[in-house]
Amino acid sequence: MANEKKQNLFNDFFTKILTRKNPDEMLQEASKAGFQKTLGAIDLIILGIGAIIGSGIFAIVGIAAAGGNESLGAGPALTVSMIIATIACIFSALCYSEFATMIPVAGGAYTYTFATLGEFAAWMVGWVLMLEYAVGYIAVACAWSNHFMQLVKGFSAYLPNWLVNPPLWLINDYKGAVHQIQAAGGDPNTLIPHIAGIPFAVNLPACIIVAIITSILIKGTKDSTKMATIMVVIKLAVIALFVLVGAFYVKPANWVPFAPNGMSGIFMGAFIIFFAYIGFDALATAAEECKNPQKDLPIGIIGSLIATTIVYVSVALVLTGVYCTSSHNIDPGFLKAPMAYVMTMVHQNWAAGLISIGSLAGLTSVLLVLQLAATRILYAMSRDNFLPTLFQKLHPVYKTPHVLTMIVGIVCMIGTMTLDLDVAAQLCNFGTFTSFIIVCVAVLILRKIDPDRPRPFKVPCSPLLPSLGILCCGGLMIYSMQSLTSSALMFPVWLLIGIGIYLQYGYVKNRKIEMNRISIENVENKELVSK
Ligand code: ALA
Repeated sequence: MANEKKQNLFNDFFTKILTRKNPDEMLQEASKAGFQKTLGAIDLIILGIGAIIGSGIFAIVGIAAAGGNESLGAGPALTVSMIIATIACIFSALCYSEFATMIPVAGGAYTYTFATLGEFAAWMVGWVLMLEYAVGYIAVACAWSNHFMQLVKGFSAYLPNWLVNPPLWLINDYKGAVHQIQAAGGDPNTLIPHIAGIPFAVNLPACIIVAIITSILIKGTKDSTKMATIMVVIKLAVIALFVLVGAFYVKPANWVPFAPNGMSGIFMGAFIIFFAYIGFDALATAAEECKNPQKDLPIGIIGSLIATTIVYVSVALVLTGVYCTSSHNIDPGFLKAPMAYVMTMVHQNWAAGLISIGSLAGLTSVLLVLQLAATRILYAMSRDNFLPTLFQKLHPVYKTPHVLTMIVGIVCMIGTMTLDLDVAAQLCNFGTFTSFIIVCVAVLILRKIDPDRPRPFKVPCSPLLPSLGILCCGGLMIYSMQSLTSSALMFPVWLLIGIGIYLQYGYVKNRKIEMNRISIENVENKELVSK
């Protein structure tokens, strides 16, 4: 008897965590939102480029080419790593397109998972998407800080010394400060201040830009979209400048050896540079605003991926052609802001200055998109009772979720004190790969359980292409876990924390709401019967 009861409880638990949200219900909710349908294929490609091109190509490309603390560099073979990362993204992009045209509602992977794999999987996808959007945001904020300091150094003749050469504990996370102080032969114990016995370091430029972006987003998204468009033009212009000027300084000898660390370097490079492609999935969330989502959305998603790959490969060819990435003496300046560093190296300081300004603009546009995406997903999760209702509170004047935007801003500021660019980008990649894998799996499942649902765009050659998506993303993830230690350890811890929060909060709250609903229905039924 006791065993039977246990079995029933167990079955009941599983039925509940697998509860799916009906796609028709989602579509109905979305139709009430009444978005204007203004976006065509070209608009989507521009939007995609705005979301994709950022610290990946302005900063992380240096680590992918020359190697980082825990990762081997691809060297000139970075171009091959980029093509591998593009292929992995294209399989997932096709799956995103199938979902985005079938259930064109906001929320992206989180929404698709709720419709396919149920409550628990949806929560976990939302939770790992925070790695993509919030931890990715920390990585981009760190890159912004590095570029800002690079720019300030360019004006050292005109600026006060306290601004050009601030203490290292004011422009780095704690680990980064220790590393740099030690590299300069100093003693971190005396050079880093202690508050109540605890060493204190803060990446001030990163915190300031996070505060600025947070206040822009609280004021409203309309201004931020306009700003993002201007920044897309600026970032493409400085990348073109880099390629055109840099091409004159390419020495083909720097491309030999082509792959100094063999396939290991190429695969690790593909994992690291994958960060540069993150953002195309944000396009799927604009499905409700497309004129012709069936045709334009796949063109927009795949088009922006191909356009960015062309840009990235051109940058990689010039970068590895001007700077010898297979050398053992890689300058830290190259790892922090490679494009500007290379221009300074060839004495084109004017180009380095313009690239630093342009990179700051490009990074700012990515910051806007990432924080917006993080708040939108947390908002949707709170609406589904996974998080406190406080997150849905709208600003009385600007009508934006200001409390949530502020919470995300503050958490990310704290993040910049503890995570460096390298580790934050790797963690972000783990989260994004996981969400891509789940979207590929969800496409296959929905084809089985809901085969008759109209699919305006279908992934061709299914199940082959979604399976290749799972294989590519999973393969790169597992491969990189073998050599990365910090991020590969933090990722499962993040998943465990997510499971804990769900069981303690989301699961309990949803059951309470269900019980309330059932008791209200019972009262109504009794009243009907008595009438
Ligand atoms: N793809 C974005 C970037 O490179 C996240 O900054």
